[in-house]
Amino acid sequence: MYTKVLGTGSYVPQKVVTNADLEKLVDTNDEWIQSRTGIKERRMSENENTSELAYQAALKALEAAQVKPDEIDLLIVATVTSDKPFPGVSQILQRRLGFDTITAFDINAACSGFIYALNIADKMIRSGAYKKALIIGAEILTKITDYTDRNTCVLFGDAAGAMVIGESEKPMIKDVLTYAKGDVEGFLTMDGYPLKKNFKTEQQDRPFLKMQGSDVFKFATTVLPKVVRTLLERSNLDIKDLSYIVAHQANKRIIDKASRTLKFPISKMYMNIEKYGNTSAASVPLAIDEAIRGNILKPGDIFITAAFGAGLTWGGALIEL
Ligand code: UT7
Repeated sequence: MYTKVLGTGSYVPQKVVTNADLEKLVDTNDEWIQSRTGIKERRMSENENTSELAYQAALKALEAAQVKPDEIDLLIVATVTSDKPFPGVSQILQRRLGFDTITAFDINAACSGFIYALNIADKMIRSGAYKKALIIGAEILTKITDYTDRNTCVLFGDAAGAMVIGESEKPMIKDVLTYAKGDVEGFLTMDGYPLKKNFKTEQQDRPFLKMQGSDVFKFATTVLPKVVRTLLERSNLDIKDLSYIVAHQANKRIIDKASRTLKFPISKMYMNIEKYGNTSAASVPLAIDEAIRGNILKPGDIFITAAFGAGLTWGGALIEL
């Protein structure tokens, strides 16, 4: 028993935040942001929460897959910015999408979350226990971004991407790998609730994400080419067999460096970071959906998608469409 991609969808909120908008908030400029990251603009959700972005992306993926709600028996949402700690976005969506009382849960593997969701769904279907899964990466990172910190606030945006996968006689989703290495150094973290030392209820400050950018940059440029090579070796494929590499859109320079390390043409490294910035778990499914809808990824194409991020986590998948 194998799996294949049945359809994809994505959704971004309407409001565009340009680099010029951020120049009004912190000591930054368009030249620095574009040359150091590749980002020109990003989206910001003012009225729609994470489950709404996920819902809109899910509707498009289900339509593309031509799958009816009662055919889905597994729903996984990767997010670090759920509407609220519980219920999960997946459980909210189960009801809104009119699914049966199926298995539905959220996972947190930050920017690698979608690859983790794909790995879990792929293995659950291959086990024979499930038939069709809807997997989603959805984030509203603007909720957890500190707009007084120029090191991070220029990077992040809001989006959702979705994919329906199902049983296949041929191995179309050929391999999925996921890894973690505990971030004890605190390269990319966000504080949670403090421990209670007494029973007093105090107003808490809102936590924000924090990042030591250059350390994460070094990590990303190491693991991205490594996971691509491992996936190719495990399937006895050459990099020339790939139509595209669709990497997590965290920084254009990370993608440029991977292209040089792998000796893979930059024209085949899919990039949309200039429009959306870093959208964490949504980044990979948003990019895959755009590439499919833009006829850049076509049936029969073999591509690798890969991601890296907080955790630290990373992973990748080798997929034939
Ligand atoms: O999705 C999860 C994974 N995340 C990533 O993969 C992100 C990885 N890291 C990066 O993409 C890059 O490290 C950043 C884009 C975050 C930063 O770029 P960098 O080239 O590593 O810059 P840096 O942090 O070393 O900072 C260089 C300088 C510093 O100034 P000084 O100390 O040299 O005077 C920063 O204060 O750039 C300054 N700087 C800025 N200047 C203008 C940092 N942010 C800004 C800014 N505008 N927004």
